[in-house]
Amino acid sequence: MCGIVGYIGGRAAAPILIEGLKRLEYRGYDSSGLAVYHSGIHIVKTAGRLSRLEEKAAQLPPGTAGIGHTRWATHGEPSDANSHPHTDCTGQFAVVHNGIIENYRELIADLKTRGHRFDSETDSEVVPHLLEELWTGDLAETVLKALPRLKGSYALAVMAGARPDELVAVRQDNPLVIGLGAGEYFIASDIPALLAHTRKVIILEDGQLARLTREGVAVLDRTGRAVDARVTEISWDAEAVEKGGYPHYMLKEIFEQPAALRNTLGRYMDRDGGISFPDCRLSPGDLAGIGKISIVACGTAYHAGLLGKHLFESVLRIPTENDLASEFRYRNPILGPDTLLIVISQSGETADTLAAMREGLRRGARVLAVTNVAGSTMAREAPNVIYTAAGPEIAVASTKAYTTQLAVLALLACHVAQALGREQEYFDELRRGLRQVPQLAEGVLAAVEPRVQELGRASTEWRNAFFIGRGLDWAVAQEGALKLKEISYIHAEAYSAGELKHGALALIEEGVPVIGLATQPELLEKTVSNIREAKARGAVVHAITQFPLLLADAADACIELPQLPAALMPLLAVIPTQLLAYYAAAARGLDVDKPRNLAKSVTVE
Ligand code: M6R
Repeated sequence: MCGIVGYIGGRAAAPILIEGLKRLEYRGYDSSGLAVYHSGIHIVKTAGRLSRLEEKAAQLPPGTAGIGHTRWATHGEPSDANSHPHTDCTGQFAVVHNGIIENYRELIADLKTRGHRFDSETDSEVVPHLLEELWTGDLAETVLKALPRLKGSYALAVMAGARPDELVAVRQDNPLVIGLGAGEYFIASDIPALLAHTRKVIILEDGQLARLTREGVAVLDRTGRAVDARVTEISWDAEAVEKGGYPHYMLKEIFEQPAALRNTLGRYMDRDGGISFPDCRLSPGDLAGIGKISIVACGTAYHAGLLGKHLFESVLRIPTENDLASEFRYRNPILGPDTLLIVISQSGETADTLAAMREGLRRGARVLAVTNVAGSTMAREAPNVIYTAAGPEIAVASTKAYTTQLAVLALLACHVAQALGREQEYFDELRRGLRQVPQLAEGVLAAVEPRVQELGRASTEWRNAFFIGRGLDWAVAQEGALKLKEISYIHAEAYSAGELKHGALALIEEGVPVIGLATQPELLEKTVSNIREAKARGAVVHAITQFPLLLADAADACIELPQLPAALMPLLAVIPTQLLAYYAAAARGLDVDKPRNLAKSVTVE
């Protein structure tokens, strides 16, 4: 998973490309590179962070056309040689690639028999060598000739020394966007890289190729026929993707949750509580015909899906299962026309979740995607979509995407309940609760931040932490533990509180921190007993609860939450856990927005 940029116009390309790459670093950041044209192609590339590329790029001549890449290694370690752009034997072609060329070994073996020399361990390097072999004198035509030879997924940006006034971009199963400026044109893997220059974009479809010159952009299909591509106007502004005064994107995004929730709820729920989803075409009759729901996602989105099971199964009595997308296809799930498959993905580009969605479509299930990114592969391929209106999420750690996913699932359950005429009282109360959520979230952020900041500072001593809870609290515990490990590198375990004594209690000793989630009234008594069990073994317990008095002698400290219907408590309870992960990582001086070994968008299986 990598980020691609390209520029052709009248300004020096390198600084524009580097700025664009900075906006895409969330897609991968172990190495990077640039190619610019100035009486021939000049390439700089390096392992490490973009600051190293910036230093090296100072040596580049002032070309006004170029391509760039930020990488997250899949084939070959992060090294200068494996960084993109890659070139052919003659240095006439420069190529940046996102995705995987599955048949690269065969292609390399074949190309080597005709004398091609390879400098990297990557799959991507086959592309410039193929272009060298197939060169017709026309860059777009040559790229189209090469594509049928490639198996796998790709977004490619290409330049040729013989065609200095032209760039070519093409996509298959990997996102690529073309930005339209005045006399200048851009290529990027994602919209934030373009917003400083333009809001007019063409979102390329699979199999489409864009030819960029200083005069304009032509979009062609696989056969080389011109396509009338739709120009989309982006409403996010550049400031929305900046840090807005916060030290890190993650903290900014945590604090954006009230606004993100307001936007998401406002988009789908009217003043009278009526709920409608404009991009979801499932009729009340379709919903009434659903015999089973399958909710499939990865990471944080999977944790959000756990609320879906609670509402659809425990409340609405529709059999519902949650699956990790990476497991789903391989367990031969039972899917049919009466199954509603709900896939959840912030990016809409997660390879495993996309594969699960395609499997569902293939087997005739009704498919509904919940995603944050309009124009993403998931949004385009799913027959029904509900967007979370979280705005761009840049930090690798997902925060506002999670809470808006919870909000969408709650709205969807209200909508299904309406269609089925079931549990109206329960869902009326849920709707009233949802209206209160943005303001209550604002209050929680303000109230708990100082305390949690202190706890985060104290956590520099922690080596392990436990997050425990029952029911929906266990779901939040899983999300809290993921966030803490991902950002602060503290080993964290999420445990169903009742399960502790079946093994993990052996790990609780003097001073071990335990975050006890206790927000579900029906399970409270039992959760409090489990918290006591941990405390009796020496744990230092921080409870997150709206019932501080009941926890007063069981926990060492309480982080107090306001009251909401139980099913909505995860929307508030998760906030202290997000802040804890953030402040624990910040106290350790870690790179909060870009944790080691991880990327924002996981476009490989
Ligand atoms: O874009 P997606 O929602 O499909 O991403 C899924 C996971 O990769 C993601 O939620 C990941 O677990 C986050 N980094 C967690 O903070």
